[in-house]
Amino acid sequence: MSARQPPAGRRPEELRRWQRELRRQFPILTAHPELAYLDSAATAQKPQAVLDAVTAYLTTANANAGRGTYPWANETTRMVERTRLRVKEFLGDPDPDRSAVHFTSGTTEGLRTVARDWLTAFLTDGDEILVPFTDHRANLDPWLEAQALLAARGVRVRVRALPVQPESFDYDHRALAAVVGPRTRFVAATHVHHVYGADMNVQRIRAAVGPDVPICLDAAQSVGHLPIRVGPGGLDVDFVVFSGHKALALPGTGAVWARGARGPELRPGGWSGTPNTVGIASLEAALGWLDAAGLDRVAEWTTALATRLTDRLRHLPAYEVLGCQASLGADTALPPQQRRRGIVSLRHRDIPSDDLGFVLFSHGFMVRADSLCQAGADERGVVRISPHVYTSEEEIDRLATVLATLT
Ligand SMILES: Cc1ncc(COP(=O)(O)O)c(C=O)c1O
Repeated sequence: MSARQPPAGRRPEELRRWQRELRRQFPILTAHPELAYLDSAATAQKPQAVLDAVTAYLTTANANAGRGTYPWANETTRMVERTRLRVKEFLGDPDPDRSAVHFTSGTTEGLRTVARDWLTAFLTDGDEILVPFTDHRANLDPWLEAQALLAARGVRVRVRALPVQPESFDYDHRALAAVVGPRTRFVAATHVHHVYGADMNVQRIRAAVGPDVPICLDAAQSVGHLPIRVGPGGLDVDFVVFSGHKALALPGTGAVWARGARGPELRPGGWSGTPNTVGIASLEAALGWLDAAGLDRVAEWTTALATRLTDRLRHLPAYEVLGCQASLGADTALPPQQRRRGIVSLRHRDIPSDDLGFVLFSHGFMVRADSLCQAGADERGVVRISPHVYTSEEEIDRLATVLATLT
């Protein structure tokens, strides 16, 4: 593990050196210097340390977890428990002895687990829940399914939209105060929007709903991208759900973190079924790698790349930059909690997104150019660019230059 944090007070050149050193650790990128992977919001590339951890696990201890008495089984169980603790540390959990971590295949399954295994047992007739209607579908469908399940049992639950500001799609915290009522029992929110890159300022949701309403956070686009600290004074939420595969671990990995008493409520049965042990081993390595790299610098780098791109696009009238990112470069005085993150979605005035995707790939750029799985939005024509720590400034500059030729 050679990723090292640059000293405090570093100059941009030191940050660039730090990034170049990290990028060299991604074999798929060094093998294909002609390609630029810019679809990290869908899934991220994997550093050598993660590949090594997977090989090491499979060649020294591959067995089932939570059962068996022989050394490989014991080591697998220890590794899974170690990773649970790693997730808690990674999230800055102030109470790791009481909280719980449940492994899933990704954010979709994690949100479904909270909806199906916890929410349906928690709500009673006449309760209301607030959920996002313009975020990723994975953070809407499970709540509607829970509502239908409860309705079949004669329990009526009202699902209300978490209010958003029409221009930016940020949550509208003023309007929120008006929809919170005495029967509000649960809120689902998104930490960073997967299309607009907005940091949704979820701390203010806690202020609006009070201390007792459980909040479930879809952190698919924030875990592995920026430092996270759960608990009072940080992200004061009850559940954090994320995808390991977007945080440099293998596909088919993810987790639900549940605070304090919510842990046993979520999964009272303990071990059941065979967990994705290989994926969990990769998650342990990925979180360790990201910690060593420094999440504050990862966030600084990817946010700077998004600013760099939007600054270039601002001068190209053929492009519309969607949502909050439109104001990213123009307003550097935004307070930190309103900072925009490393995702830029754009639309060309005349070129459909599929065509734009093909043209960009002919220049070596892999971007998201079909459905973005956003609920309640017109996705036609939208192309999403999502870098990670391995993305270079040079790739972003080349992309901007190619986009400029398509006006
Ligand atoms: C905000 C958000 N939520 C949920 C998901 C679904 O994640 P997964 O594919 O790991 O289930 C994504 C993936 O794109 C996402 O960006």
